Amino acid sequence: MTTVSNVVLLPQTNQLRALHTVIRDRNASQTDFAVYSRRIIRLLLEAGLDLLPFEKREVTTPVGQTYDGLGFTTPLCGVSVVRAGESMETELREMLPGISIGKILIQRDKQTKLPDLLYKNLPGDIAEGHVLLLEPMLATAGSALAALDVLRDSGVQDERIVLINFLASPQGLERVGRAAPAVRIVTSAVEDGLNEHAFMVPGIGDFGDRFFGTLPRTGTS
Ligand code: PRP
Repeated sequence: MTTVSNVVLLPQTNQLRALHTVIRDRNASQTDFAVYSRRIIRLLLEAGLDLLPFEKREVTTPVGQTYDGLGFTTPLCGVSVVRAGESMETELREMLPGISIGKILIQRDKQTKLPDLLYKNLPGDIAEGHVLLLEPMLATAGSALAALDVLRDSGVQDERIVLINFLASPQGLERVGRAAPAVRIVTSAVEDGLNEHAFMVPGIGDFGDRFFGTLPRTGTS
């Protein structure tokens, strides 16, 4: 796994590239898109959990020996940026049943690409632990930064936030890195850049539309 300052890029293995190849294909079915992207989401979440603080925890094995293990030291919740971030909730719940998941609804204006906060509902004790912020797309990073502001307003410290991201532009990573250097970002791919419409290239299209099947076939984001 590569760690560059605040960014953790998943190892670019053949297996990961094969998963990306399925979902980046404009002709992928909704089912394939959801199934294969969820496999990557699982990897992202596992890598994100690895960034949390651990403490020593011993257990006795079935053969009566001591295993010098580790356990989380901090409460944890998820916060998804609706709508695309909700694609990560099922995996997170399967990994950590009972985890609290808050929601922030931010939509990019179709013309200006600027984010608009429309709704939020967060766990009441969110400031007491760590937060996995679920935002699959980091293009201009306007949406992610707006979501980070909401978490800060709720008392969450930047160093307790891990942004779980599927696809990022270099510009988006740099913008978050400058505005919130203590926030860790886990991603599965760094794109070449943005086109004139602020869509990532080579890109994946509109993640939310493709995952939830609300798409125009030629959707781009
Ligand atoms: C998309 C995507 C991110 C955001 C990324 O959301 O899901 O939230 O754009 O772009 P940015 O980094 O330039 O802000 P969109 O507003 O299209 O809504 P959706 O989740 O319903 O697709």
